[in-house]
Amino acid sequence: MTELVELAGSQDVAVAAADRIVAAVGGVPHAVLGVATGSSPLATYRELGRRAESGVDLGGLHVVQLDEYVGLAAGHPERYGAVVRRELADRIALPHERVHVPDVDASDLDGACAAYEALIRDLGGVDLQILGLGSDGHVAFNMPGSSPASRTRVTALSDRTVQDNARFFGGRTDLVPRAAVTQGLATIHEARSLLMLVTGESKAAALRALLEGPAGPQAPGTALLDHPDLTILADRAALGALRPAGPAALGGARR
Ligand code: GLP
Repeated sequence: MTELVELAGSQDVAVAAADRIVAAVGGVPHAVLGVATGSSPLATYRELGRRAESGVDLGGLHVVQLDEYVGLAAGHPERYGAVVRRELADRIALPHERVHVPDVDASDLDGACAAYEALIRDLGGVDLQILGLGSDGHVAFNMPGSSPASRTRVTALSDRTVQDNARFFGGRTDLVPRAAVTQGLATIHEARSLLMLVTGESKAAALRALLEGPAGPQAPGTALLDHPDLTILADRAALGALRPAGPAALGGARR
């Protein structure tokens, strides 16, 4: 079942997301939280930091990342492993060895992808997976055209994603990696619960394509719509295109 929740702004999304994350995995030793990078979840990670400061125990989690760039030097601050350690783990007193990232430095990348799938299985699967939505509809680094049956693999970034992500590299597209290891759509689908955060006007078209279709590989997120527990937290700006008849129409969008 998909639940679509309208919230006023991005900070409201962060608070609602933190509420759900804490309810699902807070204080549960060895619970597995799947995490996304990009801008969308950053406010949620700050909010989780505040919850940890006020006594919620998140230090016993395992955190499993969706994806990682291929080709950035070890120690680069924009490697997703570094981002998650900085933006989340350090705020919730999570030891760094509990942050799990695909081994993109391996000489055998296909082997590293298979090992990552095995790691997720060995951890008992992902309890709650946080997701963002790319402006072209990508989920993790599953670009338009990705198969619903896809597993963890090496993938090429679209030009649009390279442009979108250049803001993390001083605006320089030439510094953005062209490849990544990403969990596949089928891998993501196996998480017990999915929590997608969608904020801002720049996501309105992608959110509309996700919810109104047509479903298929051109809108990768549609592969997740039959998940038994998918919640989409969206702010008004992102929902704009879905509200032609005003707020009353949102009741119809909840399903
Ligand atoms: C990035 C990440 C995704 C993320 C998406 C949206 O490239 N690989 O996991 O959800 O793009 O990013 P943002 O939230 O910055 O718009």
